[in-house]
Amino acid sequence: MKKLVAPSLLSADFGNLKSEIEMINRSECDWLHLDIMDGVFVPNISFGFPVLESVARLCCKPLDVHLMIVQPEKFIHEVQTLGAYSMNVHVEACPHLHRVVQQIKEAGMKAGVTLNPATPVSMLVDIINDVDLVMLMAVNPGFGGQRFIPHTLDKVRELRRLIESSGSDVLIEVDGGVNRETGRLLREAGTDVLVAGSAVFQSTDAVDEIRVLKNL
Ligand code: DX5
Ligand code: ZN
Repeated sequence: MKKLVAPSLLSADFGNLKSEIEMINRSECDWLHLDIMDGVFVPNISFGFPVLESVARLCCKPLDVHLMIVQPEKFIHEVQTLGAYSMNVHVEACPHLHRVVQQIKEAGMKAGVTLNPATPVSMLVDIINDVDLVMLMAVNPGFGGQRFIPHTLDKVRELRRLIESSGSDVLIEVDGGVNRETGRLLREAGTDVLVAGSAVFQSTDAVDEIRVLKNL
């Protein structure tokens, strides 16, 4: 199991984006998590590619892009142009998930598939050997600062069993409601990558909070 931390920029102070990214660069975090929303797949809109181009220029950490949009395959090229490390698409947004996963990998990025809280881990049985990471939502996507759904812990354990039985080395990432307490439980359950938005950006010392999450 890996122990990675990916702060989510959604909870940053957008009026001070440059200093927020300088904090990310200074910290022990592994990736920067970027949430793109369309107001259709989720009931909110975040930021788009013009903003992310500036973020990508300033940030020296690998970018983990989470698309909460319908038809995410339309934007593979834009995400690739950002220089993203990984591109996460929702299973619920991709009827032709296998094709999308292949296209993301052909574009030179790690392919991540994401499950909403009500989508079972069993949806992954026929794709697990094709993906690089699986992200489980521990909240309904669209907003930062929501409460962690405890059933996610059972899903992490089930996903860990699926990964072991398939013999793959897929990373397990969890997004939503992650803080020191839920993060510890998630690590115990077998989570490789903790995504944390408000826990990091609303703390008094974000660099220290990242260090704490890293050492859970
Ligand atoms: C929610 C986003 C998350 C969000 C997490 O839809 O995908 O990445 O930033 O925020 P917290 O950690 O505050 O739940
Ligand atoms: Zn996210």
